[in-house]
Amino acid sequence: MEAIWTEKYRPQKLREMVGQKQTVERLEALVKSGSVPHMLFSGPAGVGKTTAAVCIARELFKDGWQDRFLETNASDERGIDVVRVKIKNFARTLAVGGSHKIIFLDECDALTRDAQNALRRTMEKYASTCRFILSCNYINKIIDPLQSRCATFRFLPLKDEEIRRYLEKIVSEEGVKTEKDALEAIIEVSEGDLRAATNVLQTAAAFGRKVSGKEIYSVARSLFPEEAREILVLAAVEGDFQAAREKLIKVVNSGGLGGEEVVKAFHREIFSIDELPAQAKMALVRALSEYAFRMMEGASERIQLDAFLAEACALSPKSAQRTERGT
Ligand SMILES: Nc1ncnc2c1ncn2[C@@H]1O[C@H](COP(=O)(O)OP(=O)(O)OP(=O)(O)O)[C@@H](O)[C@H]1O
Ligand SMILES: [Mg+2]
Repeated sequence: MEAIWTEKYRPQKLREMVGQKQTVERLEALVKSGSVPHMLFSGPAGVGKTTAAVCIARELFKDGWQDRFLETNASDERGIDVVRVKIKNFARTLAVGGSHKIIFLDECDALTRDAQNALRRTMEKYASTCRFILSCNYINKIIDPLQSRCATFRFLPLKDEEIRRYLEKIVSEEGVKTEKDALEAIIEVSEGDLRAATNVLQTAAAFGRKVSGKEIYSVARSLFPEEAREILVLAAVEGDFQAAREKLIKVVNSGGLGGEEVVKAFHREIFSIDELPAQAKMALVRALSEYAFRMMEGASERIQLDAFLAEACALSPKSAQRTERGT
């Protein structure tokens, strides 16, 4: 079976990481000093948090780093107690050579306050044998006592240029044939997430054809930008609810798309609709965020998308005329 590219191209050394310049420099300096403090990594998905932690362990411990590195999910569905037992078993023994071990805890922001407090006590208990690297998407969900025990490192979404270079390397090494618009499409749908970008490329390349932008949008289960744009124009510019809704239903059904993908595609397009005044764009974004939130909370996607389109239509001066004419 073919290797998974996100694994195959995962950097082995900190200096091979893409972007995250400041963070990587600070981490390299710590590794060079021979010991690391407890650390807190924050940032969105697929930007190098786990990768950096593994690189640190490799560079600090060299051969046998696997015995001194534990990666586990802090929000293990079986509960924080299971996590604590895992940590206890790993931390119990001193590492060969007497220096530390590293425990990497993913998804710490999914822990309740109580669980985070329990984690804090665990960290203190094993501080003599272990260093903890906590990882989260949202640092504001981490309680202060945990934050203050860690050196914090922020991981940013990767820049378009960084993603492009990384993809170009894979494309050339794997001999993937691409149309001109393919990489731009990947950059657009992956929104700074290098894991997503790499996976979309591999999935599209697996068809064995020349990869096109159109194929990327369909692999990424994303609305084509033109389609998203057309629906938004029908609603917010033309005020034609019926037509916007029909078009939306058609593309959603044919692509098997979910509400989240539709919201993301709309969000990417809103700002490039020249026919819309700035005020209307702002109102659209506000409306979109409201309906996106409701969907996240579990409200029916169909109804929320309809409601969004209705609100978008109300922004159009033409909508009032339509209502008067009864069309
Ligand atoms: N900065 C980066 N440099 C090089 N490769 C990267 C970088 N960020 C991500 N990748 C690639 O994407 C894959 C996923 O990255 P990683 O597991 O480090 O993400 P993460 O930040 O831990 O995400 P999550 O929050 O979802 O756990 C890696 O296998 C690697 O191939
Ligand atoms: Mg990770």
